[in-house]
Amino acid sequence: MNFKQIGVSFKGSGSYVPNQILTNSKISNKVDTSDEWIKSRTGISQRRISGLEESVTQMGYKAAMSAIQMTKWDIETIDLIVLATSTPNDLFGSAPGIQAKLGANNAVAFDLTAACSGFLFALITASQFLKGGTYKRAIVIGADQMSSYVDWNDRRSCILFGDGAGAIAIEATNEFDNLIGFNMRTDGRKGSFLNLPSNKKKDSIIDNIEFSSGGFSPIQMNGQEVYKFAVREVPLIIQDLFKKVNYNSDKVDWLLLHQANQRILDSVGDKLKFSKGKILSNLQNYGNTSAGTIPLMMDEAIRKKTIKQNDIIATSGFGAGLSWGAALIKWG
Ligand code: UT7
Repeated sequence: MNFKQIGVSFKGSGSYVPNQILTNSKISNKVDTSDEWIKSRTGISQRRISGLEESVTQMGYKAAMSAIQMTKWDIETIDLIVLATSTPNDLFGSAPGIQAKLGANNAVAFDLTAACSGFLFALITASQFLKGGTYKRAIVIGADQMSSYVDWNDRRSCILFGDGAGAIAIEATNEFDNLIGFNMRTDGRKGSFLNLPSNKKKDSIIDNIEFSSGGFSPIQMNGQEVYKFAVREVPLIIQDLFKKVNYNSDKVDWLLLHQANQRILDSVGDKLKFSKGKILSNLQNYGNTSAGTIPLMMDEAIRKKTIKQNDIIATSGFGAGLSWGAALIKWG
């Protein structure tokens, strides 16, 4: 394998959300909140919650299979599967489980963790293997089961999150590059604003040999700080990308941001001078599915023919790490 390739093309998309629906009014039976507060502060009306039999592997598999069906590829021709997740059902990696379920036996599959920027970072990572000529066909998945790690007694965070997955199929090409440009950033100094930390329970193996037993504490979030970070940094990283590749908002058909809060989407859109009609949003129905939001939104828009062949999409992921990034894509 070593193809002379210059770019990637976008060939298919898929997504999956669990059936269980948790509405705002149902949450208000558990914590002191209301449908009105959640809708006005976030734009979210409901979110999906995985059933007991569901997992990142299962959701990621369904999203990936749906993307592959759109491409009509022979599954044996897939070279690479990158799964972006922060909530794997196996800490050693959930991607090989997806590979096995797909029957993509010639692929190499691995997980990548970058929270809500995960899908974007995974897409850029997979694209490098394609552009470098190592692999030809890749599936990039974003899947998260946030419900397992949310503190359902913390009204400041539990209202935001939901479960879901999306996937995109990309292929190397020597004719053009539809990943027009990208930017990636992290700032670990601000990592404490959003964490899903290990809970460090002290135990001992024998005599004086101590160890920390495994396990995680629920999500801890400083919502106001994450909000301020997002509305400050996301416009800057997109503007910087536009400058690098000589683009501006007028040349872009769709702004597809990580679906965290409608107020963040609106503020970033305003700063970048995108009209409301160009800002894609489905968080009303799903909330924040972390690595799932961007491919879930993309798939929905592609299947509804909102995003059409050759449309230009400016996309940005942002969240824990802190991490953030942007990519400019031509669909097709
Ligand atoms: O992928 C990245 C993930 N994280 C994010 O995107 C988070 C970004 N941040 C946000 O979306 C917003 O900060 C939140 C939606 C989390 C909170 O909205 P806010 O407008 O920043 O609220 P706040 O934290 O400033 O709180 C305002 C008030 C407080 O009451 P007092 O102290 O003013 O009396 C809160 O106690 O709202 C109260 N509050 C609530 N009230 C009803 C906080 N959460 C709730 C709630 N229901 N669920």
